[in-house]
Amino acid sequence: MTQASKGRILLATTGWDPAGWVEQFRHLTTREVVQEPDGPDDPSIRFAVVWKQRPGVLAGLPNLKAIFSIGAGVDHIFRDTNIPQVPIVRVVADDLTLRMSEYVVWQVLDHLRQGRIYREQQQRKIWREPYQPAASDVTVGIMGLGVLGTDAALKLAAMGFKVAGWSRREKHVEGVSNFHGERQLPAFVSACDILVVLLPLTPATRGIVNGELLSNLKRATPIGGPVLINAGRGQLQVEADILAALDSGALMAASLDVFEIEPLPRDSRLWEHPRVSVTPHAAATSDPGKLAPLMVRQMDDFDAGLPLTNLVDRDAGY
Ligand code: NDP
Ligand code: OXD
Repeated sequence: MTQASKGRILLATTGWDPAGWVEQFRHLTTREVVQEPDGPDDPSIRFAVVWKQRPGVLAGLPNLKAIFSIGAGVDHIFRDTNIPQVPIVRVVADDLTLRMSEYVVWQVLDHLRQGRIYREQQQRKIWREPYQPAASDVTVGIMGLGVLGTDAALKLAAMGFKVAGWSRREKHVEGVSNFHGERQLPAFVSACDILVVLLPLTPATRGIVNGELLSNLKRATPIGGPVLINAGRGQLQVEADILAALDSGALMAASLDVFEIEPLPRDSRLWEHPRVSVTPHAAATSDPGKLAPLMVRQMDDFDAGLPLTNLVDRDAGY
């Protein structure tokens, strides 16, 4: 294949500094990387690597063969309703999976081991040991038992937690109580002491973490009350309902990495709520040094006639 026929890579991002990706692609491949096409019908673009691409930027590219998402989630791509009918590849990578499991285990352990109470006590110089339940007393429910949810579930189970999982289709993960489909959602939620959300954002999941769902959580749990951890997407949650549930006691505490609007607006009550932990959509960052090589390998494989992997199901939206 000649240099020209290998085509160029369009790196189309907003809200994500492209510098690290440009550097990696320049180091890893002889394909030229550009951040804007030469006009809306640029024939030289063969692959696009995107995060929240400018709407319409991909629409007229006549030789585009595949779109690569910089993240595991692809809702950012579908915000643009004008996407050509080419395969969409998402991130499935050990590096990202391990980072997400670290975040989930970190937050679950903080709630199990009463981290919030110790931080408050230290501020007031109080020496008191609160009741410490064992991991085996606590059920963690993972909403979204996909690549990330399954790894987190297995790691929590290995630490002794009781683990339940909820997916769209029926699924069996060893050591995990498996629930699936809308009909089993209330039973799943009411089994959880700590609810971890690792769902993709799709038309079916938007707003799913709402007052009704939260009201199904157990009121009394071994750690003092029910806990929500959301590292999926902000628009899965209704923040007004989360605040109301925290105020009413339907929810004891929340660890939120993602928000309806990002960055979280300065006037959001979530920033200052004493029982909310905020992280800035940082649960599992996409490291260009780890992910760009996987993308380049897929581009080369595709050019060699091999199938692309980790494809998005457009009908399901993830
Ligand atoms: P997967 O596609 O591997 O898994 C998605 C899971 O959600 C699957 O178990 C799927 O069910 C389930 N699901 C989807 N729709 C529904 C539904 N309507 N009802 C019930 N279950 C449903 O995704 P990943 O695990 O790789 O990633 C999950 C999400 O994590 C991403 O989409 C992204 O939004 C978020 N993320 C956040 C990051 C952060 O830093 N905060 C970093 C990386 C990802 P089934 O198994 O039946 O298909
Ligand atoms: C992702 C993310 O989807 O970082 O990978 O949010």
